Amino acid sequence: MIDWREIDGNAKAWVKEAGQKIKQSFQTKLSIGTKSNPDDLVTNIDKETEKYFIKKINETYPSHKILGEEGYGNKIDTLDGVIWIIDPIDGTMNFIHQQRNFAISLAVYENGVGKIGMIYDVVHDELYHAFKGEGAYLNEIKIPQLENVPVNQSILAINATWVTENRRIDANRLRPLVKAVRGTRSYGSAAIEFAYVVTGRVDTYITMRLSPWDFAAGAILIEEVGGKVSTLEGKQLNLLGENSILVSNSSLHQDILQNYILKMKNEA
Ligand code: IPD
Ligand code: CA
Ligand code: CA
Repeated sequence: MIDWREIDGNAKAWVKEAGQKIKQSFQTKLSIGTKSNPDDLVTNIDKETEKYFIKKINETYPSHKILGEEGYGNKIDTLDGVIWIIDPIDGTMNFIHQQRNFAISLAVYENGVGKIGMIYDVVHDELYHAFKGEGAYLNEIKIPQLENVPVNQSILAINATWVTENRRIDANRLRPLVKAVRGTRSYGSAAIEFAYVVTGRVDTYITMRLSPWDFAAGAILIEEVGGKVSTLEGKQLNLLGENSILVSNSSLHQDILQNYILKMKNEA
């Protein structure tokens, strides 16, 4: 029998400890590298933080597998068993340039089903936490279920990239939605943007390409507050690959999908 409470307690303690170490790194000189392109940044702290989690998990749960952004975990090609999905620092550009607006994202799945999701906004000391079936919490305070918001009173989190010429989506497709909403915001951390939808600070988050470690925890949290996440085509997310993302409360999700995103696709 898997002791999920114990896993949850350990995960929480490790996330907090990793957050402390990240904060301490503000006093040190970062070693900054690039990955797929000159703006895809990684630091020694991203790597050290991932290694910290991997050591703890391997020591405590040797049969569990780990999917981590920096690649120190396992090669995962099936969702069988218990899998920890970790982004040690989501929002590395913010971490480097701003020392804020980044988060640790940690999720634990069993056979593809999300059990535990944690997003830790280190600098604000805000831990968004969900245990499947028991609701979502912000620093131990229960987050209320999301309420319906009409599109014209809603805030949309979106990066300006997606309404300017880009490789992933026709820039015209999202413009009517951007015009219809009350306002737009962009925070530069997918995990924080998910957490803000979960808490109703924004009503929707749209982006074109996230990896499993960017959304694994957020997808668990949003379900616990009655929200919905899918691809921009309305399909279920694939935990083994990259996905476009539409996340919001259920009624807004349906409205935006039908009356804006799919409609514009059909009209294009
Ligand atoms: C990135 C951030 C960013 C999102 C990118 C992600 P990283 O993660 O979440 O907001 O737009 O798609 O890759 O590289 O900082 O962990
Ligand atoms: Ca990320
Ligand atoms: Ca990252």
